[in-house]
Amino acid sequence: MSTLGSTRTLQHPANAETMRSLSTVPVEDLSSALFPEWRFRILEAPTSVEGLQMAPTFNHRSVQLAEVLDLFSSVPAGVVIDCTLGGAGHAAALLEARSDLRVLGIDRDPVALAAATERLAPFGDRAVVVSSRFDALGEVIAAGLAGHGPWPTDVDGNPPQVVGILFDLGVSSPQLDDPDRGFSYRADAPLDMRMDQRGGQTAAELINTIDLDALTDLLRENGEDRLARRIAKAILAARPIATTGELAEIVAQSVPAAVRRRGHPAKRTFQALRIAVNAELDQLAIALDVALGALVPGGRCVVLSYHSGEDRMVKRAFQAAMTGGCTCPAQLPCVCGATPVVAKLHGGSLGATEEEIAVNPRAESVRLRAVVKLEEGHDA
Ligand SMILES: C[S@@+](CC[C@H](N)C(=O)[O-])C[C@H]1O[C@@H](n2cnc3c(N)ncnc32)[C@H](O)[C@@H]1O
Repeated sequence: MSTLGSTRTLQHPANAETMRSLSTVPVEDLSSALFPEWRFRILEAPTSVEGLQMAPTFNHRSVQLAEVLDLFSSVPAGVVIDCTLGGAGHAAALLEARSDLRVLGIDRDPVALAAATERLAPFGDRAVVVSSRFDALGEVIAAGLAGHGPWPTDVDGNPPQVVGILFDLGVSSPQLDDPDRGFSYRADAPLDMRMDQRGGQTAAELINTIDLDALTDLLRENGEDRLARRIAKAILAARPIATTGELAEIVAQSVPAAVRRRGHPAKRTFQALRIAVNAELDQLAIALDVALGALVPGGRCVVLSYHSGEDRMVKRAFQAAMTGGCTCPAQLPCVCGATPVVAKLHGGSLGATEEEIAVNPRAESVRLRAVVKLEEGHDA
């Protein structure tokens, strides 16, 4: 039996491509008979996963941990879905803080999944680790919880209720710090940037084939770069580009010293490409919608965003759910019959404290937004 307790790892069939390299893992397949559309797997020992590059330690400090714990401290007993499990820092802390919670954790990165499986092993079957993208959240909930899942139903046959959903967006420190992942302008490596390196287009493939207008739009929208056109032209002129070092140099040369902002001149270009390569905003829009629908009354959704495009999307999704899609003028009482689905927690968004930024510079750009699900029939 597993040396890691009974933490389970599920594979989503939509990610069949990404499952291939996990097929060498010694596993006990629990699902084939019970769950035809799913494969539930127990990793015998994550360090034995062939073909996966294991970080000796998954060195990621969870952002706004105290705030996240506080926000989930009053949810009813049930399941918290961590849509961005990473090294399971938030997830493990939640399981420690509340013995009546279970965690279903999703990630698309096999290195993170292995680290999280190891980290959550002491919690046994209170934790389930799912290998998937979070835009499949609806299917994950249906297959994982709706009466067929890994956890028992209650006496009335109901699946466990979803009382919390957490998104801690973007990439983890190990993803950024491993030069071979190709996320960073700080080290020279193949220009990859895929959170899941087992499939999909790399950043090099993207920038070597995209046309000028599309690249300009991508840099402008995902990187909010005023020099988007200029940088896009420089990239096209220098193609083919193979490495992070080449790209960082091309961008640095195309940004005049006089208009440089704080940080590396290629920072925004790298961010914009990463968002595009991983379709981050498209997936977030889908997942937020499903998340707000899945929560039971009193359940909470907490999102940590790290750039304004993400935060805007979260703000809009929460706003729409807070008004129930009300179309009435703001100053007048609602007459359109819209029903609020959630109420916001905190006035607006919450940044990290100076103290946290001092010990974890990654927290500098974070914006936390949180909402609580309302009882049905709540008036606008
Ligand atoms: C900032 S890290 C999370 C760190 C985690 N909260 C902790 O405390 O250890 C974000 C994680 O989300 C994953 N991720 C980002 N976008 C994803 C998506 N669309 N689907 C699944 N996982 C995603 C990344 O692979 C990464 O491991």
